[in-house]
Amino acid sequence: MSSSEDLIRLWPAAGVRVRSGDLELRWIDDDLLLELAELAARGVHAPDAMPFEHPWTRGTPDEVARSVLAYQWKMRAEVSPAKFVLELGVLIDGEPVGVQGLVAHEWPVLRRVTTGSWLGLAHQGRGIGRRMRVLALHLAFAGLAAREAATGAFADNPASNGVTRRLGYEENGSVLVSREGVAALHHNFRMTREQWGRLREQHATILGSPVAMDGVDALRGFLGAPPA
Ligand SMILES: CC(C)(COP(=O)(O)OP(=O)(O)OC[C@H]1O[C@@H](n2cnc3c(N)ncnc32)[C@H](O)[C@@H]1OP(=O)(O)O)[C@@H](O)C(=O)NCCC(=O)NCCS
Repeated sequence: MSSSEDLIRLWPAAGVRVRSGDLELRWIDDDLLLELAELAARGVHAPDAMPFEHPWTRGTPDEVARSVLAYQWKMRAEVSPAKFVLELGVLIDGEPVGVQGLVAHEWPVLRRVTTGSWLGLAHQGRGIGRRMRVLALHLAFAGLAAREAATGAFADNPASNGVTRRLGYEENGSVLVSREGVAALHHNFRMTREQWGRLREQHATILGSPVAMDGVDALRGFLGAPPA
């Protein structure tokens, strides 16, 4: 058995790969992590914007890169039925372009997942954001048997809200959130399993190629959800 097979047997999240055409979401190993940290260091948003509640993108390029390393190392350990934070690298034709995350608490009881993501500045505005979210929804609903998917973004984030609205989520209220010491309006959205079922054709058109998933059955078993 190779060392990566040994790792996946012990830690099934390490074997997760979801693909559609040139787009891939996969577990972030150390080589991919370093590339993603360097990508984030080259910029994730304009300096006068802040799309994140925790402003990890502030600072020098090295500080931003270190913050990606520290966050991802910490989150790797957070994969259990009580709480999982599945952070997946986003690659186009093998080139790392960003991160798509799925977070859940009390998974066997709730089966509710919240998504979050970022792309390097050079890769934004070309439709990758909407395709990677469709893949994340496919992983959650078809792969992991989720009941509901949630997401949200600050009101002044047209790209993230644009992805969410285009994919057919329903609005789920807005709240004020403290962002860099200032109150900022944050929109919440949800999609139930039934809504996702009705949207599948529309999502398939956005993806343009069929979805292939590796390692997801093992993760679903590890997380204690029912078989698909
Ligand atoms: C949010 C993000 C992942 C979206 O990915 P993307 O590849 O840039 O977005 P897409 O090209 O798929 O566009 C998605 C939709 O938003 C719209 N959109 C994108 N940028 C926009 C802008 N600046 N103004 C208005 N609409 C915009 C697009 O027209 C598209 O809508 P459509 O499908 O109805 O045409 C990406 O922009 C990003 O990483 N931004 C910085 C980090 C961030 O905001 N993360 C999310 C935190 S909640």
